[in-house]
Amino acid sequence: MDKQPPRIVSSLAELRSARLLFDGKVGLVPTMGYLHEGHVSLARRAREECDHVIVSIFVNPTQFGPSEDLSTYPRDLDRDLLLLEPAGVELVWTPTPEVMYPPGFATWVEVEGLTKPLEGASRPGHFRGVTTVVSKLFNAVQPHKAYFGQKDAQQAAVIRKMTRDLDFPIEIVVCPTVRETDGLAMSSRNSYLSPDERTAAAVLFRSLSAARSAYERGERNAQSLRRIMAEVILSEPLAKMQYVSVADYDTLEELETVAGKALLSMAVFMGRTRLIDNVVLG
Ligand code: PAJ
Repeated sequence: MDKQPPRIVSSLAELRSARLLFDGKVGLVPTMGYLHEGHVSLARRAREECDHVIVSIFVNPTQFGPSEDLSTYPRDLDRDLLLLEPAGVELVWTPTPEVMYPPGFATWVEVEGLTKPLEGASRPGHFRGVTTVVSKLFNAVQPHKAYFGQKDAQQAAVIRKMTRDLDFPIEIVVCPTVRETDGLAMSSRNSYLSPDERTAAAVLFRSLSAARSAYERGERNAQSLRRIMAEVILSEPLAKMQYVSVADYDTLEELETVAGKALLSMAVFMGRTRLIDNVVLG
């Protein structure tokens, strides 16, 4: 049954009846579309581990802030489908905003604590939108496994926590970040970058790599690692740093000393485009 064009459904009723035809393990890959090799790697992993793979494509309005890029977020469903077919994806669910948020919608899912620092501090309300829509995707699709990228490290941590706290019977699988040859993490938002900004954007991974090398040479002082990251970012005139962080991998609290597993992460503006990236130490 592999390698046929995926079936596309939009309404909840169609999704539910298509889902009922699937026996065995079902894997879900939630996305906002404008897919790239990072998304496809999640679908491939799901295909390896599950009997059926469902990809959702929904640009979720509730996770965008008022001054963010909801209206300009790139979309190209035909191209997305061409990328998903060779990955063996059978079903693509493309709900409309009206399907997800019918008039009068008033129920939200919010994870406390983990959503406060980092992306949560820079993007108030973002994670409330993410956890609400992912809960709805989980309830509608009822997958056995759901696949997320390490690229959005805090999102993956928040979804793991939500899944545990709300007893969703779903295994959360977090997959490695897929990068361009110069190290830039693949992202739908990279399409916003001008050629100069695109070249300059490699600075995020250079910065993370510099801190990782210092760690490998024995540096354990978190502030020194942050300084190394910041210096590399500041050396790129097109880059504007929003934050650099060296945090505990589990709690996401900023560290003084790196002892166990740590998350090095950052948000950087390239012109108007906001990019994030991270690496894990230890
Ligand atoms: P989106 O940005 O489309 O990403 C969908 C999934 O692909 C996320 O789990 C993300 O971490 C993963 N991903 C993105 N770039 C990646 C890369 N370079 N390598 C590996 N994985 C990558 O994240 C969202 O959408 C939304 O917040 C969503 C979870 C769909 C809820 O609306």
